[in-house]
Amino acid sequence: MSTTTTAMNTVKARRLVVEMPEYHPPLAERTALRLDFNENTFGPSPRVMERLQKVTAEGLTKYPEREGVERIVAQHFGLAPAQVLLTNGVDEAIHLMCCAFLEADDEALICTCFCVSERTIEREIQDNNLRTIAEVTRACNAGGGCRSCYPLIEEMLASKS
Ligand code: FES
Repeated sequence: MSTTTTAMNTVKARRLVVEMPEYHPPLAERTALRLDFNENTFGPSPRVMERLQKVTAEGLTKYPEREGVERIVAQHFGLAPAQVLLTNGVDEAIHLMCCAFLEADDEALICTCFCVSERTIEREIQDNNLRTIAEVTRACNAGGGCRSCYPLIEEMLASKS
């Protein structure tokens, strides 16, 4: 057994991750597009297909340079190139912003609809022994709007129990 394998066996994932049911996307026998998978109803434009025909194997081995595309995007929107940052999806953008702007003691805003911080929700859960999202919502409004904060609140409730 290699050192790497041994080390991986000793690192434990968070309990929530370990207990999380395995996800299997329902792909079998599908007959329609899955828009929640970002499938495209129209397919790529003919210009994209034409350009893809010119991509070489060597071209696929290199990371693309962002600066050229960022300059084009900036020009299109009337911005300075330094005002444009292209990322590999929104996750990378969020990660870069957090790394650039957050300090270790900054607190996270969990419910953006009602500007409720993680600290506030944790305090409400602890002080009032809250067990459900509905109780959290009654206590501090978190989760009372779009509900996109539900998974984070659920995680906080689960970590308390
Ligand atoms: S982010 Fe919490 S209800 Fe919308």
